[in-house]
Amino acid sequence: SPGMAQLIDLPVVTDPRGDLTFVEGGNHVPFDIARVYYLYNVPVDAERGGHAHRQLQQVVFALSGSFRLRVDDGKAREEYWLRDPRQGAFINRLIWREMDRFSQGAVCMVLASHPYDETDYIRDYDEFLQAAARARVR
Ligand code: TYD
Repeated sequence: SPGMAQLIDLPVVTDPRGDLTFVEGGNHVPFDIARVYYLYNVPVDAERGGHAHRQLQQVVFALSGSFRLRVDDGKAREEYWLRDPRQGAFINRLIWREMDRFSQGAVCMVLASHPYDETDYIRDYDEFLQAAARARVR
């Protein structure tokens, strides 16, 4: 199986001055990028996420440091350790996600398919399970 959070490898241009990675919406990620946000100053014992989205698609990167990404499609769970700024995890709609085990100074960047919309969030796990089950029979 391709996994619930497909890993995306971005290009890297390396020369003696360092590494350069770039990302183009619709090319390296499968949507037009409408929003970028990032998490930083995250306490090492913090837990982020704890929700799913009805429509939003995202790609999550560890630009610096590392963290654990746990994903759940309502039937199975997987976990990924993100630690390479060239490699993102694509998270489709209707995937419950949790992020924790942030290293000191970690920076998590997220590319998102839509602007912020609180009504797109599913923050109740049982409601998520019902929505995921409905989506499977559709
Ligand atoms: P949330 O998405 O719950 O954070 P995480 O999943 O990383 O733990 O968002 C936390 C708060 O920030 C919440 O009050 C909504 C707000 N927020 C915005 O205003 N705009 C945004 O683009 C995002 C991602 C969050």
